[in-house]
This record gives sequence, structure tokens and C-alpha cells, in this order.
Amino acid sequence: MRNFTSAGLEPDPETARELIARTAERVIAYLGTLEDQRASDFDGANEIARALVEPLPESGQPYEDLLELLFDRVIPKGCNTNSPGMFSYINGGASIHGAVADLITSATNPYVGYWGAAPALVQLEHTVVRWLCELVGLDERAGGVLLSGGSLANLSAMVTARKARLTADPRHGTVYASDQVHHSVPKALMVGGFAEDALRLIPSDSRYRIRIDALAARIDEDRRAGRQPFCVIGNAGTTSTGAIDDLQALAALASREQLWFHVDAAYGGCFALTERGKSALTGIELADTVVLDPHKTLFSPFGTGCLLARDPEALRRAHELHSDYIDGVVETGDHAGTANFADLSPELSRGMRGLRVWLPLKLLGAGAFRAALDEKLDLARYAATRLDGTPGFEVLAWPELSILAFRATRAGLAPNELDRLNRELLERVNARGKVHLSATSLEGRFVLRICVLSLRSHAQAVELCLSELAACHPS
Ligand SMILES: Cc1ncc(COP(=O)(O)O)c(C=O)c1O
Repeated sequence: MRNFTSAGLEPDPETARELIARTAERVIAYLGTLEDQRASDFDGANEIARALVEPLPESGQPYEDLLELLFDRVIPKGCNTNSPGMFSYINGGASIHGAVADLITSATNPYVGYWGAAPALVQLEHTVVRWLCELVGLDERAGGVLLSGGSLANLSAMVTARKARLTADPRHGTVYASDQVHHSVPKALMVGGFAEDALRLIPSDSRYRIRIDALAARIDEDRRAGRQPFCVIGNAGTTSTGAIDDLQALAALASREQLWFHVDAAYGGCFALTERGKSALTGIELADTVVLDPHKTLFSPFGTGCLLARDPEALRRAHELHSDYIDGVVETGDHAGTANFADLSPELSRGMRGLRVWLPLKLLGAGAFRAALDEKLDLARYAATRLDGTPGFEVLAWPELSILAFRATRAGLAPNELDRLNRELLERVNARGKVHLSATSLEGRFVLRICVLSLRSHAQAVELCLSELAACHPS
């Protein structure tokens, strides 16, 4: 093997090619053995982590040693987010196409904060944003920006809503969402400097959707108490159960009350590619802002979120600021929807995220994604039906999309004993490492969830998950 160390910071083309080839070999070997790898592996993980604490190396070392360290020791430790058995949290598993796009982006390193710096690549990213707008039914005036993920997108959405609708002292502003809202929303309000009690959590119904009557009553009560309601948030796929609020009713209420209507569709939004998803998401097209996470539901690598706005000018009004040193590149494109990305979010320099979504969609077509998402919808329903028919299990939230919540049962147990039983089941399943599950809390009960979203989770992986649950049931 070549000596990559002595080749220095600017290797010649042959050396660079071999560097990439060596890396590709390891990546392909890793991907090719995913089925045999554990879904999670924490054995000795802390020791390996500690061994990585070291002083700044003054000289280099052979690449083969580093690849070995990474692929044989470091990467296998923890949750394997690419595993077919990954049913915990919300994991899409990254497609190889997104990784290839990242190689191109990182190697060519374009700057896409301002149109004038790379017009064609900025347009490419705007095209991705437009596709996502079309996906959720926002019209041709809509636009947006790709961000690092749903959390940053929710933060920018709250800042945008404040700028657009909050006229009073920000400390008096109030925001409304169901008690199922993702914690990135309260975090956004905390980071954004809103009042500690700015978020009004509205109770949800038996399907974990916001109760519109309770919402209307709370808004009314707040107005009478001198607060200024300025934003209502709809969930389009909650993290715990995938529940989708009645977005049409929320849009009507927001319009009546002159509130900003934001939809957190970080998980659920891209299911609009499928017929069933589109119908479940009816009303999302009425939102002022929408969060989508391609790194969940389009199988992009982590770090690919998106904030869409019916009127991208609203994003600009909340985020635009000029400086003397940027003046040369600030001109925008010659047609609508070509705003400077740096004016639509807090970020100035960032990697181009667009290619991660553009390349796979151009290469494979939307149909490949639709088929994959339809498969996840089918598999989640299948898993719920199977669990429901298995003695010792009950389904507590049937999948609206591809998440279901359930728990193990045993006759005669008190609620806290049932919780303990389910904790034990989760620990047993995860300790075996064939599949990985996570838990949540519903109405105070500890419950388990299966999120079928990983691009590599097919029928066989779901069967394995069900048999692991049966084998580990502490009966
Ligand atoms: C509904 C919802 N919103 C927002 C987020 C935050 O997204 P991210 O992890 O990309 O910051 C998540 C994450 O799981 C989520 O499920």
C-alpha cells in the first residue's frame, strides 16, 4: 500500500485514487455484512471510547491501521443505525447514494450560502427544496432551506413565527402544541429566549392527536389573561406513536385566531410520497412553515433537515443580516425562489446538503423511495397485527404511519409491575443485539415502540423482531 502519510496534504492523483479505493473497500465490506452485524453492541464500548482520549498526534500513521481502528473497533460499538434490525427511535439508515453525494460535495467543497458564490449549485439545492414543497402540496411561491435537522428547523420556525406574528413583548407570547410534541420545540423556545411558560401543552385524544376543543379554550383563556398567542404547531407524525393531528382543523383555527401555523413533519412529512401518507397528511399544505427530515424518511445521512415556508420572505425577514465583507456575492438569482440560503437561516458557512437528496432522487427516481416507504407502512401494520394476536402483548397505538406502541402484559400485575416487566423485556431484547427497540411513555405508562423506517428493514427483519420479543417475554 502507498504511504499516504508521506504524500502529505496534497496527494498526487494516483495516491488520492488509492485513498478513496481503500476507503470504498472498507465501506462496501461494512455494508455487505450489515445483516450479520449486531443491531447494537456495547460490549467494551466504554473502554474503546476511553482509548481514544489522546494528545494531538505530531506525525501521521498508516491508513490501514486507522481504517482497522475505525471499522473493526470503533464503528461497531453502539447502536448500528444502518442495521436492518434497527427499530428504535426514528432511523432511516443512510443510503450509499447519500454517502457518495457527500464525497462529491466534500471533495468539491462548494459554498452555497449565497447565490453569487455558486449559482448552479445553489439552484440545485433550491430545486431540492422545491421538490419537498411539492411533496407536501405547498404551491410554487413556497421555498425554504436545508438545515442540519428537525431541531434547528423547529428553532428557525419559531423565530420566523415570532417575527411574523408576535407584536407584544416576546415574554408574553404563547405557542400551542399537543402533549406529544417533540422536545426540540420546547428547546427551540428555550434557546430562542421565549418565556419559560411560552409553550402551552394541550391534551391529546385517544389517538394521541391534539384536542381542538381544549386548544381553542386555552387560547381564549390566555388572551383573557393578557398573553399573546402567536403560533400553533401541528404534529405530522409524533415521535412516540407517529400520530398525525387534524391538520385541517388546526389550519382553520390558526386562520381564525390569526396564528402562525407550523407543522412538525420531521418524521411523517416525506410519507406524502405515498398515497396513504398523502391522505393521512391532508391539511399540511395549509401550513405557514413545515419541518421535514430527509435524514429520517428519505434515507439521507444524518445532518439533512429542512424548513419550508409558504412565503420564504417570512424566513428572510427573520434571518437576514448584511455585512461589508459579504457584499460581493449577495445578489440573488434572476427568478423567484432563489433567495440566498444565508438569509433564510442562522447559518453562513455550511456544507451543501442538497446533493444528498438530489443525487439519489435523480439516480433512482421518486418511485424507489415511494416503494420503500410503502413497504415500511405495510410492515408496521403487519407487526401491529401480529403482536395484537400474540398472547402476552397488547398494542396501545396502532400505526398511523410506520410506528407502533405496545407492551407486554401479564394478568394480575399492578401498573408499576407492568412497567418493570416491559423495562425488563426491552433490556433483554436489546442485550441480545439482534434487533434494537426503544421505549416511550404514554399516559404515564412505560411502553415499547417499533419504528419501521430503516431502509434495510424488510419482512425478514420484522419477523426477527417479533420472534425476539416472544423469546424475551419475561413470562
Ligand atoms: C417529530 C420530530 N420533530 C423533530 C425532531 C428533531 O429532529 P432532529 O433529530 O433531526 O433534530 C424529531 C426527532 O426525532 C422528531 O421525531
